[in-house]
Amino acid sequence: MSELVPSDLNAPPTDAERARARKRFDHLCKRGTDFLGTDYAILGGAMSWVSERTLVSAISNAGGFGVIACGAMQPERLAEEIAATRALTDRPFGVNLITMHPQLNELVDVCLQAGVGHIVLAGGIPPGAAIKAAKDGGAKVVAFAPALVLAKRLIKMGVDALVIEGAEAGGHVGPVSLTVLAQEILPHIDQVPVFVAGGLGRGDALLSYLELGASGGQLGTRFAAATESIAHEKFKNAFVRSNARDAITSIQLDERFPVIPVRGLVNEGSRRFIAHQAEVINRFQSGELTREEAQLDIEHFWAGALRRAVIDGDIENGSVMAGQSVGMVKAVQPVAEIISDLVEQAVTALVRQQRRMDCNG
Ligand SMILES: Cc1cc2nc3c(=O)[nH]c(=O)nc-3n(C[C@H](O)[C@H](O)[C@H](O)COP(=O)(O)O)c2cc1C
Repeated sequence: MSELVPSDLNAPPTDAERARARKRFDHLCKRGTDFLGTDYAILGGAMSWVSERTLVSAISNAGGFGVIACGAMQPERLAEEIAATRALTDRPFGVNLITMHPQLNELVDVCLQAGVGHIVLAGGIPPGAAIKAAKDGGAKVVAFAPALVLAKRLIKMGVDALVIEGAEAGGHVGPVSLTVLAQEILPHIDQVPVFVAGGLGRGDALLSYLELGASGGQLGTRFAAATESIAHEKFKNAFVRSNARDAITSIQLDERFPVIPVRGLVNEGSRRFIAHQAEVINRFQSGELTREEAQLDIEHFWAGALRRAVIDGDIENGSVMAGQSVGMVKAVQPVAEIISDLVEQAVTALVRQQRRMDCNG
């Protein structure tokens, strides 16, 4: 066995080392790629206003799995977006539906009629009827599991794959980090593929979760800043400038008035939100507002704010949803480059792993 000094560990991989590492990486991703029908087990997490035809098709064309964010779209609008995406790619892509959408059943029908192969149900435990309708119609159903007990329940309900999303993620988040969720869930679930999300910015990190049993990873923040993302230039540049610590969850002032936790960049809007809550709570305490009125007032503060930031570029007053991985966005890059960087980082990490093993005999 040849002796390796530390500098050798970081030497560029030889072609043979790279080929061997790449084979191992593909093997670790196989369950995920088989499930998605893609080259890479990398999903572009659905992002309202961001994950539309251009970004979704770019991710799928680059060998990943793009997911359209339906958000508040009406059925006809969703049908149009699916058709437009299909015109830009012949690769698989999915559609993310929010479970509390009042027309959830119609939206599932739209996906089925358009032959969408994967429906992602987000925003709470999906109704059994929606899961059944999607599956009966031939689609695979993906749902989010925020805890082991819910992962088991979702599998019993028939979902075909799970996403576990840590609190590091951008957008609406739960309270638990991916590091902990992965340990809680991955060792105990092998009935369906599990994809990890939240805080992924590099391929070596993705690799570590694959080695823990994940079938792939989902990224949002890095793709939001991609060249093909339709997000406003100011929105993308804010990502490039920001550090991990700038992406914080919404602050709640009073437990009587719950605030839905959303992770985004601190800005004038997030500072005003704190002052706004204080003012509304004062008006409640003085009897000017009922509790319900005060709660609604607080909830309405962010109405339309994501669109203002993403589309209009109002990054000071809009909601600049971003995950902690924003600190790893160093430039606006084409999707294909982001994906190939991720794969290269995973392959390089595997080469080093192999060298360390060889080194230790
Ligand atoms: C701007 C933005 C908007 C998002 N909107 C949605 C959404 O509409 N539905 C959803 O399920 N997840 C949404 N997410 C979460 C992403 O799909 C993805 O799971 C998350 O970004 C992964 O973590 P990361 O940001 O650390 O990569 C959003 C994330 C961002 C950054």
